[in-house]
Amino acid sequence: MNETLAPFLKLADAVIITDASHTILNVNETYESITGYKHKDILGKKAGILRTSYTSQSVHADMKAAIHSGKPWSGVFTNRKRSGKLWHSSITITPFEIDGQYYYVGVFRELEQLDQGMYLDDERVSRMQGSLLKVLAISCEIRDPGTEAHLSRVQQLTDLLVDRHNERMNLCYSKAELARIANSSILHDIGKSGIPEGILYKPGSLADYERTIIEMHPIIGLDIVDKIFAELDDELFEKELQTAKNIILHHHEKWDGTGYPHRLKGDAIPLEARIVSVVDVYDALSTKRSYKEIWNIETTLRYLAEQRGKQFDPAVVDSFMSLAEEGLLPNY
Ligand SMILES: [Fe+2]
Ligand SMILES: [Fe+2]
Repeated sequence: MNETLAPFLKLADAVIITDASHTILNVNETYESITGYKHKDILGKKAGILRTSYTSQSVHADMKAAIHSGKPWSGVFTNRKRSGKLWHSSITITPFEIDGQYYYVGVFRELEQLDQGMYLDDERVSRMQGSLLKVLAISCEIRDPGTEAHLSRVQQLTDLLVDRHNERMNLCYSKAELARIANSSILHDIGKSGIPEGILYKPGSLADYERTIIEMHPIIGLDIVDKIFAELDDELFEKELQTAKNIILHHHEKWDGTGYPHRLKGDAIPLEARIVSVVDVYDALSTKRSYKEIWNIETTLRYLAEQRGKQFDPAVVDSFMSLAEEGLLPNY
């Protein structure tokens, strides 16, 4: 190691010094006592050995991009101590160029308040929430073997559409908000688990009373998620819950106010529900169901265009059509 860097090792925080290829050149005493790794254990090894999957790929990519371009980087890492225990720390890595060689000096500060818990980055939280909601949705609607595929398609397509709509309309939604809508879309029909099978899968047309029962699925769904989330009672799901409720309750409302259950009109319908409603109808029409034959993509898109400003938010239909024009809709 270049001696110019030696003073860094005297810092009270844990310090690690690597060369340009991330090989560990030195660590200080604080580093040794916090992590349990002695000099001899890790000198000459790649810094990557300390990594855990709790630090997301994107955090690492971000860090590498910054320091390789000569800029310092700060963020949160979850590494593993020698004992196997996780170590959450806030780290600043500063690149130094000495005699034409690059060195990286990492200064760690332990996130003490996390002694009792675990640091999870947004991306990981969102992935966990997504998986949990998927399991929930599938287990509630398990009676129909086609359901799982429909739900996954709705989630994927909502992901695409909400992203496009955000971009086209300058909505400034954060990544987390966009992911929340896509994750929650999978729950839209959770209330169908409360509808008798004889009505739900009846081929042909429905009697008025049967239609009334089916149209109760948004309200039944709301009741189901309320019960589940009351049980979970965790703020990790608080925002997810509101988005999911909006989608479940309002995905059959229509832009012109003729939908159900509340006959909401226009902007009074939450945007996430207006988005899922287009996606849900598109998927339902373009795939085979017990009560109808498959429609081809052109016919389905024509239907969406006809319903622009009637059943659907015109701006959402425009965003959807822009995906179609660019050939971005998945081929079923
Ligand atoms: Fe529905
Ligand atoms: Fe659906």
